Amino acid sequence: MAILPIRLFGDPVLRQQTRAVESVNNELKKLIGDMIETMRNAIGVGLAAPQVGYREQLFVVDISPLLDEIPEELRDNIPEQPMVLINPEITWESDEEEEFEEGCLSIPGIRELVIRPESVQLDYQDENMQEHTLAVDGILARVIQHEYDHLEGLLFTDHLSSFRRGILKRKLEGISQGKAEATYPVQSYS
Ligand code: NI
Repeated sequence: MAILPIRLFGDPVLRQQTRAVESVNNELKKLIGDMIETMRNAIGVGLAAPQVGYREQLFVVDISPLLDEIPEELRDNIPEQPMVLINPEITWESDEEEEFEEGCLSIPGIRELVIRPESVQLDYQDENMQEHTLAVDGILARVIQHEYDHLEGLLFTDHLSSFRRGILKRKLEGISQGKAEATYPVQSYS
């Protein structure tokens, strides 16, 4: 497995249209392994294919570093980690919303409160192309919605008010020009 450089804010690959995965061939199997290693090396809890330069509808999640924050009686509902989600589709979202501080490996050094539905239901396929339906809430719902956004060409900063975005403008421009201090390998577009 290999650690892949993570693409930074400003890279058009983060905004491109993604394509459905038809089968998990050896190349894609390797990519999935590399993405899990890349996510762990960066101490992230999720990583989407566009963040390492691919257009596949695929992301990986591993919230095990955050499990301590989840009440023990709720941990049974959490699938085994890490998770590989292919061709995900969110089919339901709750009316109840929640505010939570998010960051993104493609936007190092910025964390902001983002409002999202508290729980969602989704269909996806795993690395064996087995179909699953999953209802999630709490931290896992948060991470899944963030990664799902990446497959739609969206970043968490798109959810901020124009006021907050204005405050972050110079920092974001800096990141898109490669001025990012990350503890993991990154690749800027410019
Ligand atoms: Ni992200």
